[in-house]
Amino acid sequence: MTENDFLPGSYQNSPEKGKVTWKAPSNIALVKYWGKRPVQMPANPSISFTLDACATTTSVFFEKKEDRENFSFDLFFEGKPKEDFKPKIQTFLERIAKYLPFLKEYNFTIETSNSFPHSSGIASSASGMAALSLCLMDIEKQLNPSMDEAFFHAKASYLARLGSGSACRSVKGSLVQWGQHANIPESSDLYGIEYPFDVDSVFKSYCDTILLVHKGQKQVSSTVGHQLMHGHPYAENRFQQAFDNLDKLKPILGSGDLEAFIKLVESEALTLHAMMMTSSPYFILMKPDTLEIINKIWEYRETTKIPVCFTLDAGANVHLLYPEAEKEKVHDFIKNELAEHCENGQYIHDQVGKGAIKIND
Ligand code: DP6
Repeated sequence: MTENDFLPGSYQNSPEKGKVTWKAPSNIALVKYWGKRPVQMPANPSISFTLDACATTTSVFFEKKEDRENFSFDLFFEGKPKEDFKPKIQTFLERIAKYLPFLKEYNFTIETSNSFPHSSGIASSASGMAALSLCLMDIEKQLNPSMDEAFFHAKASYLARLGSGSACRSVKGSLVQWGQHANIPESSDLYGIEYPFDVDSVFKSYCDTILLVHKGQKQVSSTVGHQLMHGHPYAENRFQQAFDNLDKLKPILGSGDLEAFIKLVESEALTLHAMMMTSSPYFILMKPDTLEIINKIWEYRETTKIPVCFTLDAGANVHLLYPEAEKEKVHDFIKNELAEHCENGQYIHDQVGKGAIKIND
């Protein structure tokens, strides 16, 4: 599909008003997206586990209005008006307007809430942009009921990507791949796809405990971090490495080779942070407790032979990944050894989920 395929024709219906609600999960990348070109095109392909417990629920009320020149929307976050989110949503609406020409015909009230604790330091842009895009697609489907399901999901992911790159991986499927790759059929820079190859059952219920090391605002946002890959001395090698890692991951995911999985996933996480540390200007998002946790994970894995590993997103928090069969032992390890490195002892147990769902009011 090309960008033009997402431009709609004329609509069959024109409802006066209505309400739609979607719940979209967060995701955690195994091969990381870091570096992009305009508009929101990834410099390299990535793949992520879709999460389950960490999610955003968004309702959009829509009602026809007179003026058709401007966007009109109100925004509520966890029940309260949220003025400081509005510029981001305004930019998003401007970016997607040509793909959803009805946007200026309605007044929207957007109500959004997260399942994870407020300001936990977990990026909510992926689940938030995915949930909002699904709501807008649901409205478009009411205007054009003949739209098929595959197109609905592809376009929701396409729109979500225009809001936040990683959000395109939070729409459908347990393991989602985004970014064109010669050896992955149907892969695209425009939207995420369900990983098309065999995946061993161990990965279908894989667990992710998010260790909340630092809940404050990050010193450098992902958006700035991506920009610093332009002119970065190691960028080209890094992008090539991500392409190669997707090739390497195919037999690993297919066979359930956890040793190889751990090596690849931890290397991806540290490479992401190495890119930050070698940017100009350079920056460090890890905290002392991030390193304490990593060392404890390595020690625990070495002594118990339990296949736990870590990954990191663009922050200080650590995602601890492990098979469901090891859940009990790993939960003890977290409680006894890792919780002390988390801010206020906080962590969130999550696991691989299935993708976004529509909530019927
Ligand atoms: C480190 O998707 O947050 O989590 O497209 O600017 O919104 P924008 O960036 P964003 O970047 C995510 C970066 C990452 C890696 C990943 O999720 O692949």
